[in-house]
Amino acid sequence: MDYRVGFCQYKPQLKQPEQNIKRLAQLLDGVEADLLVFPELAVSGYVFRDKEELINHSELTDSGRTIDFFREFSKENNVSCIVGFPEKAQKEGETIVYNSCFLANPDGSYHVYRKIHLFNREKLLFAPGDGEFSIYPAKNGVKIGMMICFDWIFPESARTLALRGAQIICHPANLVLPWCQQAMITRSLENRVFTITSNRVGDEVNGDIKMNFTGQSQVTATKGEILKRFDTVEEGIWVTTVNPEEADDKMVTPYNHAITDRRPDRYFD
Ligand code: ACM
Repeated sequence: MDYRVGFCQYKPQLKQPEQNIKRLAQLLDGVEADLLVFPELAVSGYVFRDKEELINHSELTDSGRTIDFFREFSKENNVSCIVGFPEKAQKEGETIVYNSCFLANPDGSYHVYRKIHLFNREKLLFAPGDGEFSIYPAKNGVKIGMMICFDWIFPESARTLALRGAQIICHPANLVLPWCQQAMITRSLENRVFTITSNRVGDEVNGDIKMNFTGQSQVTATKGEILKRFDTVEEGIWVTTVNPEEADDKMVTPYNHAITDRRPDRYFD
């Protein structure tokens, strides 16, 4: 099956959702794809000072500026979109925010993943994800899994998605450490799946907190081939054609299967 997949790399402006959506609409103009991955917290920005500021820029699970824009875009353009957003929820009478992403499909179906492994100061602001690494159908029934940014450093994240049948792992990110892009080659290779990392670029400053994001968004194929990697600063959307069914072939040699050759009885905690 020919399937056009891609990523968006750009520089969102902190707490400027309208401006960011305008910029995304500009970047998306004329793009044709079946599945597109956007960064973590793609429209809100990342460097929130405290919970109150974050709550003020968060969105409900299934309605809000970001979600409404992408659900409409997905239907109008017949493309599945995976997009990071700060998800507001209630727990035990308290307002909390998950660092989430959603899958919006052209048929209107919609799924949310809540980041399981929080990174650094995120632990002060967000609630850790209470869901699972699950598989969802994207356009044409392609099986996708979602993980967010720092989930990469735990091989169990991608492995769980692969064990559950993911063909493409969609990976919205706001990366600041230098290792992820190289590591994702291994995540693809060891699981024989496609991975799409969409990272943002640029500096973000809020009071005395400053962060720089490393770009290098990429698509890797099932044998670890990098099909494309952006540089650390460029902005844009890149699309290529892959065959997701290649991810169903787990044979490494005629005698080695990447999944069933595992020896869980020999692995220890
Ligand atoms: C990260 O998880 N945003 C590094």
